[in-house]
Amino acid sequence: MALLSSQHGGNTREAAALYGFEEAQLLDFSANINPLGMPATLKQAIIANLALAERYPDPEYQALHQRLATHHRIAPDWVLAGNGETELIFLLTAWLRPRRALLLTPGFAEYRRALQKTGCEIVDYPLTQANGWQPDDGLLKALTPGLDCLFLCTPNNPTGLLPDEALIMAIARRCGDCGITLIVDEAFLDFVPQAPGLIPFLAELPHVWVLRSLTKFFAIPGLRLGYLACADVRAVAALRAEREPWSINAFAALAGEMLFEDKAYIDATLAWLNQQRPWLYAELAKIAGVTVWPGVANYLFLRCDAPGLDLQAALLAKRILIRSCANYPGLDARYYRVAVKSREANAALVAALKEILPAGNIYSR
Ligand SMILES: Cc1ncc(COP(=O)(O)O)c(C=O)c1O
Repeated sequence: MALLSSQHGGNTREAAALYGFEEAQLLDFSANINPLGMPATLKQAIIANLALAERYPDPEYQALHQRLATHHRIAPDWVLAGNGETELIFLLTAWLRPRRALLLTPGFAEYRRALQKTGCEIVDYPLTQANGWQPDDGLLKALTPGLDCLFLCTPNNPTGLLPDEALIMAIARRCGDCGITLIVDEAFLDFVPQAPGLIPFLAELPHVWVLRSLTKFFAIPGLRLGYLACADVRAVAALRAEREPWSINAFAALAGEMLFEDKAYIDATLAWLNQQRPWLYAELAKIAGVTVWPGVANYLFLRCDAPGLDLQAALLAKRILIRSCANYPGLDARYYRVAVKSREANAALVAALKEILPAGNIYSR
């Protein structure tokens, strides 16, 4: 049985209660949040604008949509912001009402939950270790006119791997040819600044919806802000008309209007990640009994090869929480995901793993 009931990482309350710790004593590697924390510029702006809570936000969120559109050099009517990307996954799925959808496994759990809510038939397309957990040309063949919808997560959660750009484009075109709506989740793409994503190509791909989240990169999962972009302006307008008013709180809207201006924070984040992810990857790769994949985002996917060892439980006893991937369709209890954190925290994780999996033991690679 799973140690934690939560479908997601970040449930420090449940984990701490299980072991009788204070939540603050846990080192949380289970949620993929920028360890630099919420930008100071945003904190100051929220404090200076507390009075925003005393009136309704603009129901059209014009300034927010304009700012997001400017950031991506697209028209504001291509953009719709949401109370976290999660709201948009559910809103879009309920509006599209697909009859048959293809999901890549392993993948983010909320696509399946949103599709199940609409009664959609779900076809799984397994990514396998043999294929490096990446989609390949086989996916193109699986895209047939009998499908209505495909979710693609780039980079994928939990693997952190980004499919080849040419393949993403081929998938997008194939979906267009087959009448399949493609929903591309780029929640973690801001951590991969060299990857353009699909927003620059949306004009020629009106059947593609790109979803983005600001909660990870800017460390605001409790504030909540995400957005979608699509060149089918009639569809975006229909979705806008469908949604409930004021779902984005005034401070989240303010965040979206200013965060992309904070170049110092963005640069500091990318500098941290460029140092810490390769370091953590290299250290994990050295540990006998651990297989790690070279993710490009702010988290790494790994397998523990020690027979019967519950690595999450063993680390929790040392007050470190990692994400078990046992509940991802297509994976099992050997798989885990860890966030990249500060050097100090990453070193604590590596040291704890070395204690649990001492070198020279029976674990084969
Ligand atoms: C791949 C992926 N997409 C979307 C989300 C949801 O993001 P948000 O916090 O903006 O709702 C998550 C959250 O973990 C995620 O991992």
